[in-house]
Amino acid sequence: MKNTIRLFIFSIFLTACGVNPVSYYYEITTGKELRQNAPVPGEYTGLKNPIEPDQYSLMSGESTFLEYCIFCHGEFGMGDGENAKDFYPRPPQIAHTSHMMADDYLFWRISEGGEEFRTAMVAFKGRLSEKQRWDVINYVRTFMGPDGMMSGEMMSDGIMGD
Ligand code: HEC
Repeated sequence: MKNTIRLFIFSIFLTACGVNPVSYYYEITTGKELRQNAPVPGEYTGLKNPIEPDQYSLMSGESTFLEYCIFCHGEFGMGDGENAKDFYPRPPQIAHTSHMMADDYLFWRISEGGEEFRTAMVAFKGRLSEKQRWDVINYVRTFMGPDGMMSGEMMSDGIMGD
């Protein structure tokens, strides 16, 4: 009962902020899950990153990230870029999802953007070459080690607070 009341008050708060509570609850409960479980379309299915994550690839990926992605996804891919709060749904923490999701999913989402899901993610297939898209995937995967731990650089930049 207490929870119902809290939910009700929070819904009124959301409405007052101009957010439709139904779409808000939909987004946090199913929206992201729906996108991440959506079948990768035919032309992208099963694609594997053909580019080794060597220093050249990572340098290219970094420059793409700084030019095109940082404003929304944040310096370390934590979804906290300076424009992030202008978008709903918010840009996700690709530092995490780039480890959870397969190459073909990431390449598809970066290439085609969020139009299909009516989100702000930009379609990059006309702006970045295929190599640049694979390089940026290599780069975002360095934000977190394969064990899911933050990289040393993230720690020393104080992203974890103190
Ligand atoms: C205008 C803001 C914006 C920019 C710029 C942007 N993104 Fe996104 N991105 C989003 C939003 C919002 C989503 C989540 C919504 C969705 O799934 O469509 C998203 C989703 C993603 C996803 C899917 C992750 C997941 O959790 O399913 C990947 C991967 C991604 N972006 C990578 C990139 C890369 C790489 C760049 C730069 C080349 C970039 N994005 C630029 C806003 C942005």
